[in-house]
Amino acid sequence: MRAQNVGNDTDKNRSRKLTVTEFILMKNREKISMVTSYDYWSSKICDKAGIDVLLVGDSAGMVMLGYDSTIPVRMKEMLLFTRAVARGTKRGLIVSDMPLGSYQTDTIHAIRNAIRFIKAGSDAVKLEGGVEVADKIRAIVNCGIPVLGHIGLKPQTAKLWEGYRVQGNTCASGSDLIKDAKELEKAGVFGIILEMVTSEISKLISKNVRIPTIGIGSGPYCDGQVLVLHDMLGLYDDIKPRFVKNYTYLSKHIFQATQNYINEVKTGVFPEDKHTFHMKKEEYNKLKAGK
Ligand code: KIV
Repeated sequence: MRAQNVGNDTDKNRSRKLTVTEFILMKNREKISMVTSYDYWSSKICDKAGIDVLLVGDSAGMVMLGYDSTIPVRMKEMLLFTRAVARGTKRGLIVSDMPLGSYQTDTIHAIRNAIRFIKAGSDAVKLEGGVEVADKIRAIVNCGIPVLGHIGLKPQTAKLWEGYRVQGNTCASGSDLIKDAKELEKAGVFGIILEMVTSEISKLISKNVRIPTIGIGSGPYCDGQVLVLHDMLGLYDDIKPRFVKNYTYLSKHIFQATQNYINEVKTGVFPEDKHTFHMKKEEYNKLKAGK
């Protein structure tokens, strides 16, 4: 039996939203599935498929808007994506990424922006960083807004320093990550994303915190996994991280279908009569007769 308010629902047939409390209770009971989503149609499909959490990640800036990193992503873009995902989601927990610049400057600014995401339909927000953002996280949680942490590789600032590299591969960096995770737990996060963290460190973190850890490129010992939907579906290949598993190659299907469409338009094969509307014969004859 899971959380008290789960009733008789099983995960697959739950017709209402997963709550943050239920998410936490999944630790050590059931692996958590999370995928990114930025629009109405994909959130509808993923939600129907039974995904636990939809992450409106700021990776949207790269895969949806063509930026070369998440640095340029703005609040108004993230809010637009969040609203679309909220319209397509009935049961998955929606977490929105707070973009770079929306929470670093001061606490009030961070709280205001977190509230904007909740008003747009999100159930929680995600902030990148460990010890250095713990105060902002605490303040947002104190306002009643659930926060998901994100440590390890931090894409919002990684490019400014050492680039996209595996984290926690030395004793010093591993123990810093463990410290970060504990600090975030104390600040009140309901879970922590571990990005590109060595599996030894993600195992230690997962054992040492009571909240779920969600890995991306961080091995099998996390309490759940997240992937960027466009990577998983083979829709985006500007960057191809080794940790991504392609479950299909949709871009090939889209390419082929578009070429077929172009050919049929050029050769007049499309549209056929079944795609065409006709007026009544008598009306047409009247028109031709000039009446
Ligand atoms: O923006 C995003 O997609 C993310 C995932 C990489 C966890 O933060």
